Amino acid sequence: MTLSGTQTLFFLIFLVLVWYLLNTMVHIPTFPYYLSLTAVGVVSIFSIKDYMSGGKYKGKERIPGKTVIITGANTGIGKETAVELAKRGAKLILACRDMGRCEKARDEIINESANRNIHCRKLDLASMKSIREFAEKINKEEAHLDILINNAGIMRCPKMLTEDGFEMQLGVNHLGHFLLTNLLLDKLKESAPSRIINVSSLAHVRGTINFDDLNSEKKYDTGAAYGQSKLANILFTKELARKLKGTGVTVNALHPGVVNTELIRHIPLANSSISKFFFFPISYTLFKTPKQGAQTTIHVALDPSIDDITGKYFSDCVEKDVTAEAENEEIARRLWLISEKWTRLT
Ligand SMILES: NC(=O)c1ccc[n+]([C@@H]2O[C@H](COP(=O)([O-])OP(=O)(O)OC[C@H]3O[C@@H](n4cnc5c(N)ncnc54)[C@H](OP(=O)(O)O)[C@@H]3O)[C@@H](O)[C@H]2O)c1
Repeated sequence: MTLSGTQTLFFLIFLVLVWYLLNTMVHIPTFPYYLSLTAVGVVSIFSIKDYMSGGKYKGKERIPGKTVIITGANTGIGKETAVELAKRGAKLILACRDMGRCEKARDEIINESANRNIHCRKLDLASMKSIREFAEKINKEEAHLDILINNAGIMRCPKMLTEDGFEMQLGVNHLGHFLLTNLLLDKLKESAPSRIINVSSLAHVRGTINFDDLNSEKKYDTGAAYGQSKLANILFTKELARKLKGTGVTVNALHPGVVNTELIRHIPLANSSISKFFFFPISYTLFKTPKQGAQTTIHVALDPSIDDITGKYFSDCVEKDVTAEAENEEIARRLWLISEKWTRLT
């Protein structure tokens, strides 16, 4: 009989309690007591870590001949997604803004996967010009596009504007991917069955679409702007799924978990050496590694059992509910129209 992570955890907590009760009732030598307690503590940490990992995608699909674009693939979740899809034989296009970091990641992905069909392409989601140039090149050069993974993201940065004057988190996380996806849509339709994956976040639950100040011009709050952009990812997913009905192109969103990546780079407190030192036991125990954080993306990109599932939201490789605002079709339609206008799609 094998125990799951949760069962092991409860079993260990039970053992600690029994041990504690025994120790209070009868005299037990101090050294073995503390030794056992330490051992149970260490095993508990690994059990909690195992439980928090959220599981691994177990599908064995290989995808030679499929072309996949991953935005923000030079580090974190995007890079680990790239490694796994490269191992499964895909042709990968790493869409990154910093070509130095992109080339370095490409070399590492090739080393890990032994797949040389990995290509770097310049894409800065904070520039509509860059997005248009990238999409034009893809549409011209690629015979087909089977999977588009909108993964790149920026979180809780100080007030910054994109090249076109959008608040940075809304601009990169939502508007940039909105424009990119729409510009690649014909290619995705021609390549059907094809999939679009939008990496959103559980942070959408704290988000609201502030139509009175969508671009945070009156007031800027780093957390609210991130939550808004991640909620926008889900509203975009659902509206696009409605528009794509019957085309063979599916679009789904996901939360990767809380993952130990560079996403916190704009939070000074989280980046100081002192807080890293004190925070390490918590982050080590409770946060996913980037490889674990990539599992839901890989699941949504590959699993044949969700071939016909579209407009949904996943976490830990299973479908999950979203907030009422994320399900609101009126808000989704309104956000779509504004995004279309601001990105000059119409
Ligand atoms: N980590 C978590 O706990 C967590 C939780 C929920 C959701 N997510 C989501 O997961 C996704 C991946 O995040 P991560 O944790 O892997 O973060 P990360 O390690 O910081 O990676 C983010 C990636 O996005 C790229 N990027 C940022 N701005 C860009 C721009 N203007 N143009 C093109 N690429 C840009 C970064 O490129 P550079 O390296 O050049 O900056 C990097 O490759 C994000 O959408 C994030 O919101 C993460």
